[in-house]
Amino acid sequence: MLAEPFYWHPGMWKMLIVVMCVALLGCLQAQELQEHVSIILLGATGDLAKKYLWQGLFQLYLDEVGRGHSFSFHGAALTAPKQGQELMAKALESLSCPKDMAPSHCAEEKDQFLQLSRYRQLKTAEDYQALNKDIEAQLQHTGLREAGRIFYFSVPPFAYADIARNINSSCRPGPGAWLRVVLEKPFGHDHFSAQQLATELGSFFQEEEMYRVDHYLGKQAVAQILPFRDQNRKALDSLWNRHHVERVEIIMKETVDAEGRTSFYEEYGVIRDVLQNHLTEVLTLVAMELPLNVSSAEAVLRHKLQLFQALRGLQRGSAVVGQYQSYSEQVRRELQKPDSFHSLTPTFAAVLVHIDNLRWEGVPFILMSGKALDERVGYARILFKNQACCVQSEKHWAAAQSQCLPRQLIFHIGHGDLGSPAVLVSRNLFRPSLPSSWKEMEGPPGLRLFGSPLSDYYAYSPVQERDAHSVLLSHIFHGRKDSFITTENLLASWGFWTPLLESLAHKAPRLYPGGAENGRLLDFEFSSGRLFFSQQQPEQLVPGPGPAPMPSDFQVLRAKYRESPLVSAWSEELISKLANDIEATAVRAVRRFGQFHLALSGGSSPVALFQQLATAHYGFPWAHTHLWLVDERCVPLSDPESNFQGLQAHLLQHVRVPYYNIHPMPVHLQQRLCAEEDQGAQIYAREISALVANSSFDLVLLGMGADGHTASLFPQSPTGLDGEQLVVLTTSPSQPHRRMSLSLPLINRAKKVAVLVMGRMKREITALVSRVGYEPKKWPISGVLPHSGQLVWYMDYDAFLA
Ligand code: BG6
Repeated sequence: MLAEPFYWHPGMWKMLIVVMCVALLGCLQAQELQEHVSIILLGATGDLAKKYLWQGLFQLYLDEVGRGHSFSFHGAALTAPKQGQELMAKALESLSCPKDMAPSHCAEEKDQFLQLSRYRQLKTAEDYQALNKDIEAQLQHTGLREAGRIFYFSVPPFAYADIARNINSSCRPGPGAWLRVVLEKPFGHDHFSAQQLATELGSFFQEEEMYRVDHYLGKQAVAQILPFRDQNRKALDSLWNRHHVERVEIIMKETVDAEGRTSFYEEYGVIRDVLQNHLTEVLTLVAMELPLNVSSAEAVLRHKLQLFQALRGLQRGSAVVGQYQSYSEQVRRELQKPDSFHSLTPTFAAVLVHIDNLRWEGVPFILMSGKALDERVGYARILFKNQACCVQSEKHWAAAQSQCLPRQLIFHIGHGDLGSPAVLVSRNLFRPSLPSSWKEMEGPPGLRLFGSPLSDYYAYSPVQERDAHSVLLSHIFHGRKDSFITTENLLASWGFWTPLLESLAHKAPRLYPGGAENGRLLDFEFSSGRLFFSQQQPEQLVPGPGPAPMPSDFQVLRAKYRESPLVSAWSEELISKLANDIEATAVRAVRRFGQFHLALSGGSSPVALFQQLATAHYGFPWAHTHLWLVDERCVPLSDPESNFQGLQAHLLQHVRVPYYNIHPMPVHLQQRLCAEEDQGAQIYAREISALVANSSFDLVLLGMGADGHTASLFPQSPTGLDGEQLVVLTTSPSQPHRRMSLSLPLINRAKKVAVLVMGRMKREITALVSRVGYEPKKWPISGVLPHSGQLVWYMDYDAFLA
């Protein structure tokens, strides 16, 4: 049948004109709105740029160029122009287009991208000024409005300050346009150096201008953690807590070793390289309280910081470390070290983390990473408790639905047998909801993951896989700060890891052969807050820097110090010995008198003891224990400086002491701190007299300061060293100056006094006090001599082996 002839009637003409006008207006508006972005890639010929950044920039260009943006890309380095150009051209050779793009279109796009990309040498202040001039000239020439400038620092951190200074002084965009500087790790080596670097950068850039990259935040499975928790709130609300979660594993295993980069690796090691950043970020995303708006950078940061505050401090016993066997040899070769050199740098670490909040109390979070392992894989696995009992035999369990099968949720970051990012949810948990950018996936038949066939999971993978750097470049472009590390976030993380790093500095890592040959050598277990290798083996003593002998060389040492019994051991053993002794004393006291009066010191030394008592002493008669303070700082009890706050954080919140048995010092009365007129010291003394028979504590735990002070009784103190007063106000040479303290006469009434002395800082005073007589005015600790009770010294080898 012939088609009817097509006639234009007048109404249609009118319509066409209107449509054309609207389209034209649209075009004009788009033209008007076109904004220009200059991207300056510093280190444009380096490894990271070659592997990921140029490709990421090309992807950004493809995604955004049609949306009203124009670009110029300035590849920069220190290399002279000609050679730099050649190197950059090489780096750009391997750009690839998305799979679904036609080859001719791809060639066209690449060509345009190359035309917009220029190499330039950025070495001197003049080079930066010239760059600025060129950008301004280009803007003037094209009549485009400037949206902003991105400076990507793909350079070693020692170069940061110079570059930052130059950008700040001559390359800032004009008013109304933004500046974004992108920084790659390492961001320091420990808390102190991170702080220094942050302060330095802070003198050039505003916080909102800095984008610190942790490329794991750009990995699709990691970026999906918060949105997933948000979209599945209903199902997860009741499950995401200590009542249901058995444990969480955050793992990054690698097959590669550190060959070729030992100069970097020797400085950092696996904890700084991977755990402090990538794995910690994943931990925070899994464990933080879920913000109402998960895409609000501010809310995410706030919740992250809260989580950091709830992390229990790590101790030496929280980690095991290993080193692949050929590592030291590689270091000797690459860094020209002598044959006798042995490195102590860990290339494998597993760390047990606890979170002291209501949601996660008692749930072990295991962070583990290593080089030269048997496979490459990364994931965060949340294993749920199995609280169901299935009555019928296993053959009647409807496959995958039974509550008796393992229940787990896995954010599979990549690689492994699955080979791609994925989210896996056991079918007996719930059917998850994911955004349309994720699709249900199928794996190779017979594939088993985490102990279950893939068919036991709802399994999803991204519709389009994207490289982490390209995801992050897009977030930088759109100013999405939630995928980057702020200064506060960075310092909180270093604050958490630095004590562990310091305590491991001289620990010899367990050597492992590498790859499949590792067998069970690196398997580890955990209990009572500690983590240890499953297989006992005589540790290889790697001769390392420092003369420190290994813990296993020593038994707990018993001797005398100032004529009283002395217990000495490495700090961990010492703490567990002291905790056992305190428990034994408590049990005896409760058996004889029905109650146990324990007076505790504050400060840092007893923290490990409190943690030990809180986690590993199930037989402790807490219900019959009265807790007193040996001394207190004149700050509100809620202040982090308060001794009571330390006791609360590390002990009280984990044990069940009746609240009427807890006796904080009354340093804060009538909204004043330690005012004489408020008679806080007298009130405490009366409370002691009323409740403690003969004012004689069953046990007083003291420390010894580097100046010989004990409790808050300092050298030359006018009060508390003798006389009638049981409790006194004193003055400390260090802040906060005002203190409240038990007096020496009261301390000396105790049935038992334990003095805990730990750390190298105490070596001198330990040696000195061992020689002096009774001179409390000069060294108050020398006045501790219980009249009829027992005095025992507990000293770790660091303090004692002077
Ligand atoms: C880097 C570390 O940050 O992450 C490397 O410096 C590590 O040591 C790498 O190999 C792992 O990243 P990915 O993306 O390969 O898992």
